[in-house]
Amino acid sequence: MRLQVYLSHSGACSRRNALEYIQAGRVSVNGKKILEPSFPVNLQDVVSFDGRRVSLKENIYVLLNKPKGVVTTTKDRHAPSKIIDLLPLELRHLHPVGRLDRQTSGLIVLTNDGELAFRLSHPSFEADKVYRVVLNKPLSAEDKDKLEKGVVLEGKMTSPCRIKISSFVELETIIHEGRKRQVRRMFSSLGYHVVELCRTRQGSLVLGDLKPGEWRLLKPEEVQRLYQELKHVPKTHPIRSQG
Ligand code: URA
Repeated sequence: MRLQVYLSHSGACSRRNALEYIQAGRVSVNGKKILEPSFPVNLQDVVSFDGRRVSLKENIYVLLNKPKGVVTTTKDRHAPSKIIDLLPLELRHLHPVGRLDRQTSGLIVLTNDGELAFRLSHPSFEADKVYRVVLNKPLSAEDKDKLEKGVVLEGKMTSPCRIKISSFVELETIIHEGRKRQVRRMFSSLGYHVVELCRTRQGSLVLGDLKPGEWRLLKPEEVQRLYQELKHVPKTHPIRSQG
């Protein structure tokens, strides 16, 4: 995050004042005076303003309905349409949790809370990811069974999933992994083409009435509930496994 953004998100001042204060030499990072507003800082850095430590004020959680045609990445400067551009300037420091491919629509969380992002996206916490899928042809009972047990993608089996047929070519699938283009590739491994794909639920979060491109902040109780339901500590947790 840029130093100017960090300072304004700490609640110490507005974004405009942050620029002025940095240029006036009132801000230091790890004990060193920094005059460059775009100086990169991360969560481990100690940022001080007039000699007093400041830190990010709060975690922010956004639930957004990604429209088709918009990319999830925040890094590609040249991407024509990015989800982050759907948020107001003061929320553009947030990071998307996982990704949806360009032609997929639906629920995506953006946050600055690294721990919750980890729990939502790491398969060992087993957060349900529910997708509404429209296929080019009806799914046979035999193929449904194969998909539910797991299919091989790039030499590795997918974990068991659940599929509920909704109508002729429409169904709902619940998976726990987030491999690249997983749902599309699962169906195409058995000769189906995914015509429409929309994520409608992740853990206890549902898309609800949000139209494509719309977003809302999560309520504190929704965040609390996510933490409660995603509390399994996996052996592979990079922080806790260091003992
Ligand atoms: N599976 C896909 O194929 N695409 C997505 O965007 C998400 C899951």
